Amino acid sequence: MDQPMRMKNNGQISIVLNSQKRSSVRDTLRHESLPQSLPQEHVALKEIEEELGSLVGMEEMKKMVKEIYAWIYVNKKREAMGLKAGKQALHMMFKGNPGTGKTTVARIIGKLFLKMNVLSKGHLIEAERADLVGEYIGHTAQKTRDLVKKALGGILFIDEAYSLGRGGEKDFGKEAIDTLVKHMEDKQHEFILILAGYSREMDHFLTLNPGLQSRFPLVFHFPDYSVDQLMEIGRRMLEEKQYLLSHDAERKIKEHLHSAKNTLSPMAFSNGRYVRNVLEKSIRAQAMRLLMENCYDRHDLLTIRSNDLVFNKGSSE
Ligand SMILES: Nc1ncnc2c1ncn2[C@@H]1O[C@H](COP(=O)(O)OP(=O)(O)OP(=O)(O)O)[C@@H](O)[C@H]1O
Ligand SMILES: [Mg+2]
Repeated sequence: MDQPMRMKNNGQISIVLNSQKRSSVRDTLRHESLPQSLPQEHVALKEIEEELGSLVGMEEMKKMVKEIYAWIYVNKKREAMGLKAGKQALHMMFKGNPGTGKTTVARIIGKLFLKMNVLSKGHLIEAERADLVGEYIGHTAQKTRDLVKKALGGILFIDEAYSLGRGGEKDFGKEAIDTLVKHMEDKQHEFILILAGYSREMDHFLTLNPGLQSRFPLVFHFPDYSVDQLMEIGRRMLEEKQYLLSHDAERKIKEHLHSAKNTLSPMAFSNGRYVRNVLEKSIRAQAMRLLMENCYDRHDLLTIRSNDLVFNKGSSE
């Protein structure tokens, strides 16, 4: 049985390929969907594609993941031929406004890299400022080191990473950044660091340590969603919960999203989360209506009507 990808304990990508198959992944990588009869060795790629398929848009991210798959696979082939196998740090930075899917993608990447055996454990350690920054001199370096240790073989995902730079020179956040930078270099094939945050803040964050920028070979921008994409995100959320929008409700949400996007500042409009919050509130309002009307037939239970919709007034929630 082929092992599609494997990382040694030392974290380096090891190319252990015993496949005699000459099947090509050309079509797979070129086209949106995979051929039906995918060779067994590329099952991981199919699963990865299905997982990514649940996300609306994000073409750049989807392409990158496939490229990493191809790169690792080809490295195995190279090693089998006695050629040098490349090693590349896969630390990433996710930049984008609120609700554009950064946390969601980081979680998925953790799962995918496990499937691809890019990481020996593939677990995801989610952390924020308080998990890294200590209260006295030396405490921060220790906390950060401990966190990196926990993440070895997996992903360390630091959300709102720019908050580490918040307090300026005297703040212990800087010590956390310096410790991270050191470990990123020393253990660059043993864990993947993903820093996430809003674009402007992350750009400022990168200026805080001269070594930061070059240590993130993969920087992804998560653009704001268009109204159509937001509608699609909403549709998928509802479908998963087994709800539908009436035609009127669909039209009303669309209109509302147009005006919310135009009136709220980019930092205040929380994209996918905004849609999620509207739908969750509306589902509760629908339940209340059904209770009052005492009607529970299948169509009623499924359908969110326009007068069930609850919009956030001027808030970013
Ligand atoms: N491309 C997408 N497809 C489907 N759902 C999405 C997509 N992007 C975001 N969502 C949904 O929107 C919500 C917010 O996403 P998420 O928490 O990942 O955003 P974020 O960028 O991490 O936000 P913040 O920067 O505020 O932490 C989640 O419920 C997520 O499922
Ligand atoms: Mg987030």
